[in-house]
Amino acid sequence: MITVLGIESSCDETAVCILRLGEANHTEILVNLVASQHEVHRPHGGIVPELASRQHIRTLAPMVQAALSQAEMTADQLAGVVVTCRPGLLGSLLVGLSYAKAMAYALGLPFIGVSHLEGHLNAPYLETPDIPHPHLALLVSGGHTALYAVTAFGEQQLVGATRDDAAGEAYDKVAKMLDLGYPGGPIIDRRAQTGNPKAHSFPRGQVKGQPLDFSFSGLKTAVRYHLEAQGGSIPPDNLSESAINDICASFQEAVVDALIQKTIKAAQEYQLNTVLLTGGVACNSRLREKLAATCTEQNIRCVVSSPQYCTDNAAMIAYVGAKRIGRGESSPWDLNAQPTEMMRGPIK
Ligand code: KG4
Ligand code: ZN
Repeated sequence: MITVLGIESSCDETAVCILRLGEANHTEILVNLVASQHEVHRPHGGIVPELASRQHIRTLAPMVQAALSQAEMTADQLAGVVVTCRPGLLGSLLVGLSYAKAMAYALGLPFIGVSHLEGHLNAPYLETPDIPHPHLALLVSGGHTALYAVTAFGEQQLVGATRDDAAGEAYDKVAKMLDLGYPGGPIIDRRAQTGNPKAHSFPRGQVKGQPLDFSFSGLKTAVRYHLEAQGGSIPPDNLSESAINDICASFQEAVVDALIQKTIKAAQEYQLNTVLLTGGVACNSRLREKLAATCTEQNIRCVVSSPQYCTDNAAMIAYVGAKRIGRGESSPWDLNAQPTEMMRGPIK
């Protein structure tokens, strides 16, 4: 049994988790804390990197103390400290990384830096420890939209990715265009529930010659053209609530269709009969429902986490680190934060 502290500060959530990893991937999450920075960034309509780093500095240390006290543990009882070291906002990553290194060094504990993407890819194991390899993972978040063929823990091959916007980014930008608020994903999801998904026919982005790649910028432009054609301003001042809900539902249906179509194509091409859905956009009610139904039709097992493990969290980071510590791995003290992650080929 390995008990670790996980820290996630790559973007706009400060998250801390104390997780225990036992036999056969079974986990016990002792404490899982997330401090959202949405209120800090909302007035700006998007994430302001400098504000994000400052907020992480304010919240991280008290959160670690709170986590240890809620778990009724002292730091020296931990088997290691795990932190996201890539990809993300450089300043935000550095806050978590510096804190984790200092804490582990002072306590003489192993320290492990892990990939945020690998965290998302492993998040479904927190609730479903028996997911077999190989499987296909659709990672859809605010920063990434990609399909990975995962052959073993830590062995993943990128098989498709977005050429422009990530799906979550498209949600957030369209919400901004409609002046619905930030972050846009959950708001559009909610409004779409009372809209008509067939009201407008928006494009399901295709990339010429790359059938497993995604493109959402054309869809975003199509929504803009649609608003302009209505003769109003952007954000619109001449549309009824129900007209806006129809746009939300039609936009969402286009995103969901594109995601599902490529996922099923990849599953068939790579002969993978288990599909994982992960990342913030995996909270989307329509995507969860339609992907599950399509997978059932295709005889594919579909695994989707609870929303708290789809969006950014430290439990997924702690899980990856605990697995690595269990294998005797640790990171060098000079490990640096990396804002980007190689997008083609394995993401090890
Ligand atoms: O994984 P995540 O928390 O952070 C990143 O790693 O990017 O994902 C955040 C993204 C945001 O773009 C947000 O709008 C989107 O996930 N999101 C959703 C929903 N909930 C969050 N998008 C669509 N529907 C939702 N219900
Ligand atoms: Zn994320």
